Amino acid sequence: MSDHKNAKNTDDTAHGEAGESQTQQQGQGQPQSQSMWGGRFGAGPSAVMQEINASIGFDKRLYGEDIAGSRAHADMLAATGIISADDRDAIHEGLAQVKAEIEAGDFTFDPALEDIHMHIEARLREIVGDAGARLHTARSRNDQVATDFRLWCRGAIDRLDGLYTGLIEALMNAADTHAGTIMPGFTHLQTAQPVTLGHHLMAYVEMAMRDKGRLADCRARLNENPLGAAALAGTGFPIDRHMTADALGFDAPMANSLDAVSARDFALELLAALSIGATHLSRLADEIVLWATSAFGFLTLSDSFSTGSSIMPQKRNPDAAELVRAKVGRISGAMNGLMMVMKGLPLAYSKDMQEDKEPVFRAVDDFELCLVAMTGMMEDFHPNPDAMRAAAGQGFSTATDLADWLVRELKMPFRDAHHVTGAIVKYAETRSLMLADVPLAAMQEIEPKISAGVYDVLSVEASVASRTSFGGTAPENVRAAIKVAREKLIVKEPK
Ligand code: ARG
Repeated sequence: MSDHKNAKNTDDTAHGEAGESQTQQQGQGQPQSQSMWGGRFGAGPSAVMQEINASIGFDKRLYGEDIAGSRAHADMLAATGIISADDRDAIHEGLAQVKAEIEAGDFTFDPALEDIHMHIEARLREIVGDAGARLHTARSRNDQVATDFRLWCRGAIDRLDGLYTGLIEALMNAADTHAGTIMPGFTHLQTAQPVTLGHHLMAYVEMAMRDKGRLADCRARLNENPLGAAALAGTGFPIDRHMTADALGFDAPMANSLDAVSARDFALELLAALSIGATHLSRLADEIVLWATSAFGFLTLSDSFSTGSSIMPQKRNPDAAELVRAKVGRISGAMNGLMMVMKGLPLAYSKDMQEDKEPVFRAVDDFELCLVAMTGMMEDFHPNPDAMRAAAGQGFSTATDLADWLVRELKMPFRDAHHVTGAIVKYAETRSLMLADVPLAAMQEIEPKISAGVYDVLSVEASVASRTSFGGTAPENVRAAIKVAREKLIVKEPK
């Protein structure tokens, strides 16, 4: 589920690490000037400068993307004659060793080296010497980090897309099983009209398909290569940005070097797509919570996705659903947080933008967990059709069917039919009757032309079966919708 186990979830240790070295440095006097950019600096940064500046605690997750970007850059530098083939080969060997060390947990992270880019480069120089020092030709950390982060987001989208497919399949399977299961449909959470559970679940399939589409749109727009924009203005070296774009699977180089290093709308767009997706998941999660209450009784929670209470032995709590319902707060918070970071930033790169990664990492982690948990809940879905069927008949849920019958059979204008139906509902309500149990004579007292045929439309079964309009709730429509959705899912994902 997660991308790079070793380098993940280090956010909370970042400050701890920085804090430790801070104390050491204070013990040893002023730190030396920074080796990567310290040529014109006499003393090193103050300890607190180092602490606020370091991003290694969280951006170590980008090591794979950073190494991929460096490989592509080195190949391009060699192909354009900017570095020698020998240097290129040395860089490749060195990067392979760095990668292996990081993955083996054999790599020393040091906040003095700020970020993942400097860590990898510094270690590369230790391993291969001058060749490693030539890697940064015609490149800046500004285009480097933009490239790494786009690659990371692209990988995250691909993982999320696969998880969405799993959720959609689980929803469709449950919808298939329950294409004909009758439940109350609600508006204002008041019983409105009977619907099928399959139809209800397929509504979430539609949402999830659009959410998946939003991620695909985001992926298509983000898939351009910032590398080669250098610090902000491009470079005088004869680089080939199309070559690095191809090597990294980007569709094209980004057209404007200032935009390439400054743009973070791809991250905002991803967070926006996740916020909308999380909103949808929270609605489904809420229905699980609601349906599992004893007041509703529509669902029995599976053991795997509920917890007991330490004091009330009878309790079975829908914690997983509640947490999925809650996560949207963190995810949309991440989006809003990054919006505020980006607002009003002048072109081109500003260090503010280093704060782009944590919200995205956290939101993606949260969202992956939500998708997996929701898929699990849908695979383990135990509705109680009897309780749903009984509730569907309550609340005069077929009143609209009665009004429609009056329109169809007696050619009554709908507004008049609505009025007559209201009178019949009132009669039933005052006598605690279901609509189907109101005697014909009583109905005829309200509208003399009503005939016995009306009882054909008053059952919940007849009601749902009649709703065959395109997109309606009839069981046959649900089965057809599942078929269409399955085809869409397969077409979009050629295996
Ligand atoms: N760690 C930095 C970030 O994430 C990398 C870019 C730093 N560039 C610079 N000019 N200081 O944004």
